[in-house]
Amino acid sequence: MKPTKPRADRPALDLDLPQFLDAGPSPYHAAAVAVGAAVRAGFQVLYDGDPWTLEAGRAYVVLHNGSTVAAFRMGRKAPADAGFRLVGAHTDSPNLRLKPRPGLASAGHVLFDVEVYGSPILATWVDRDLSIAGRVTLDRGGTLATALVRMDEPLCRISTLAIHLGRGVNEDGLKLDKHRHLAPSLGQLAAGEDPTRAALDTLARAAECEVDDLRGFDVGLYDTAKAAYVGRNGELLASARLDNLASCHAALAAVIAAPPSDATAIAFLFDHEEVGSQTAEGASSAWTAGLLQRIATAAGGAASLPQALARSMLVSADMAHAVHPNHPEKHDGVHAPRLNEGPVVKTNASRRYGTDAETGAYFRALCRLEGVPAQEFVTRADLACGSTIGPIVAAGAGIRTVDVGNPMLSMHSVREVCGRHDAAAMTRVLTRFLAADVPLPW
Ligand code: CO
Repeated sequence: MKPTKPRADRPALDLDLPQFLDAGPSPYHAAAVAVGAAVRAGFQVLYDGDPWTLEAGRAYVVLHNGSTVAAFRMGRKAPADAGFRLVGAHTDSPNLRLKPRPGLASAGHVLFDVEVYGSPILATWVDRDLSIAGRVTLDRGGTLATALVRMDEPLCRISTLAIHLGRGVNEDGLKLDKHRHLAPSLGQLAAGEDPTRAALDTLARAAECEVDDLRGFDVGLYDTAKAAYVGRNGELLASARLDNLASCHAALAAVIAAPPSDATAIAFLFDHEEVGSQTAEGASSAWTAGLLQRIATAAGGAASLPQALARSMLVSADMAHAVHPNHPEKHDGVHAPRLNEGPVVKTNASRRYGTDAETGAYFRALCRLEGVPAQEFVTRADLACGSTIGPIVAAGAGIRTVDVGNPMLSMHSVREVCGRHDAAAMTRVLTRFLAADVPLPW
């Protein structure tokens, strides 16, 4: 079998990775951008609440609750006979979210009152030109309507305390109280102005609506700096949200590029991984197994789902920890992935990753077929292991899973970095996986 070559007669994702990263400052934007790209590549939009008629070989995309996406191409055979090939990633990243009454006043400033979402490295959020993105729900003449909102220009910043007023900062580290020290300033409060009203006015201006029409919002902060190639030869990619929009990009590119096969190919992009996935949009949701049931039923009878799952596999794609040049001791020496040296297979004896002998071997075999080196990651025995959507979907649907990801540094910083060349390598391997021309080993 030969490596997959991009073919001129196959559709391709029409956004490169930096464009995709910049277009997705919130999970709602990332999901909308993914749906738009799938539609431009010929995928037909389905709605959860409609009846579905699915045709063999055709491609479909579903937006679930605004921030989770499933893009899939029906197999030539029913899932009961040829299974699913699934790739999973997540649309959310750690950040700071506005509270329902988002205005504070202090020392003549108007500030956004924020709550921490997930586990950001808080110190990286200070002294950045930040803005807001997410979604707002509006009263439109008595009915509620939801719209995306994004302010492009820098709007606010969390300023560090001068070193003269906090002399120990370099010895002790920058310590920020989550309740008191993270509120970004929107500038100065006018005399007599109400800070909540001022904050809501700003949000309404971004949403191009009247402030009195705002009924609800899911809005977070983001860094307005764009993705950029860095390094002597531009071999690094620095950006916000590489964890995990880089994997969403690879998964989406793969499901668009993969040729029709007997198996049904699906890319799942889930929200809420960073807060545990236990939501209506998260990987734990019954929606995931429900969608597989729905596809299996449409293609060949309700009783066929367990049969289909036995012939299926999930590649859970989430970014991996590259060995850090200034902290090499944080890695186990022979399981220390490097940037630009290929996708990482993640293994954990306590099964915080879904990888086992067969699923790991299968992914490594796909890498070999595509001429891509594969790397290995096991966390040090004295460090806690992160997790991914892999074990969640594996347990929820009983699907055999491998956990993989491209190596990166600065994970959960407001600005992360990965290897420029790993992106295309991962896309190739995921495309080969979804092409399903290599039989599963069970
Ligand atoms: Co992640």
